[in-house]
Amino acid sequence: MPDTLTITDNRTGKTYEVDITNETISAMDLRKIKVHDDDFGMMTYDPGYTNTASCSSSVTYIDGDKGILEYRGYPIEQLAEHCDFQEVAYLLLHGELPNASQLAEWTDSLKMHTMVHENIKEQMASFRYDAHAMGMLISTVASLSTFYPEAKKVHCAENRMIQAKRLIAKVPTLAAYAYRHSQGHPYNYPKNNLSYTENFLHMMFKMSDNPYKPEPALVRALDVLFILHADHEQNCSASVMRAIASSEADPYSALAGAAAALYGPLHGGANEAVLNMLRTIGDVKNIPDYVAKCKDGVHRLMGFGHRVYKNYDPRATIVKKCADDVFKVTGRNPLLDIALELEKIALEDEYFVKRKLYPNVDFYSGLIYQAIGLPVTMFPVMFAIPRTVGWLAQWQELMEDDERRIQRPRQVYLGERKRDFVPIDQRG
Ligand code: CMC
Repeated sequence: MPDTLTITDNRTGKTYEVDITNETISAMDLRKIKVHDDDFGMMTYDPGYTNTASCSSSVTYIDGDKGILEYRGYPIEQLAEHCDFQEVAYLLLHGELPNASQLAEWTDSLKMHTMVHENIKEQMASFRYDAHAMGMLISTVASLSTFYPEAKKVHCAENRMIQAKRLIAKVPTLAAYAYRHSQGHPYNYPKNNLSYTENFLHMMFKMSDNPYKPEPALVRALDVLFILHADHEQNCSASVMRAIASSEADPYSALAGAAAALYGPLHGGANEAVLNMLRTIGDVKNIPDYVAKCKDGVHRLMGFGHRVYKNYDPRATIVKKCADDVFKVTGRNPLLDIALELEKIALEDEYFVKRKLYPNVDFYSGLIYQAIGLPVTMFPVMFAIPRTVGWLAQWQELMEDDERRIQRPRQVYLGERKRDFVPIDQRG
């Protein structure tokens, strides 16, 4: 016997019983709640989907109250300590950690796809000199769909995996090209004898004939950051990925949409916004004034708060530690003092305590990116590179889900009805 919920409609006095499965009720079961037979039936109203499960998933588990994050059941802390990014990418997409030969095959197959068509290079060259890197990434990812029309065969599992590998391998190349474009520097082709993160740093920073050997501590830090950002269940951008893919669009088009959702300052653009905020504050002595304005609603404390975490974001703890390791190599970022003091003040302030607003993953990541030498416009791109894997894992899961349907929410219509047309010369 399933667990059930009994609902009494006080308008009619009628009682309904609905099944409870996995601690949820089906919204469709509420349709039978009606006053009149020809009523549409009851719906739920949930702007921003704060309490609506849009799918079942086995990819990422979050307990926001306890500050727990797991990929496929493995705690993020263990993955960040023991894995490199490609191993975690395999885990997210395949559901299991790879053995040694599976990992070797996986990394080799990603290397086969790192190059992009030369026309993409030309397309990127046509952007303005000051084009935002994220805008360039979004549009060139969308363009890739025109190079791989076979990606439309979204019901073929083998074809989906080829496109997934292409995207994971090519997004860093597009990201690095966007950066080189902004610098006015020639693009560096990928170097496939390097690891995923080493190759990315090579494409970003290698200059002319000079040998370039990325600092191992930075390579490791980047692996850790990429692991932390790889997936985060049904966040805004993953939901967009699923929404677009639910219409059976190809993964390049869907991923461009997901990246666009990530771009906003309330989501993956927050790391850029944090750095700009720290620069605006400028000095520790200005923090109380800035915090007061946050409390007055003048602006938000960027890098603070989360829809799901009502505790310290476990990723922020790891990023903070990672920042220490990076600063040993690059020198301490002077904005760190402002960030640390800001965190201390906010964590003691009743406004933030009451609302359970803690630092999130974006609070410290920008300081690391800046120390590595990246401009702020690259920060959301640095989020998009690893999140590509999460978007693809969510997409794969969606395409294999028997309950998949095109996403099409309902609305509560509160506008005018049945008005007669008024000719323009008779309108007030
Ligand atoms: N600074 C000041 N007040 C805040 C903040 C903040 N950063 N975040 C939330 N609040 C307040 C908000 O004003 C509201 O107060 P009240 O109840 O008095 O109206 C209360 O806290 C609840 O906020 P909310 O907007 O209803 O919460 P939400 O779950 O809809 O929004 C959020 C979550 C992440 C969009 C929000 O906390 C925020 O804007 N944070 C700053 C942007 C940021 O750092 N984003 C990165 C998120 S982590 C990376 C990722 O995965 O995207």
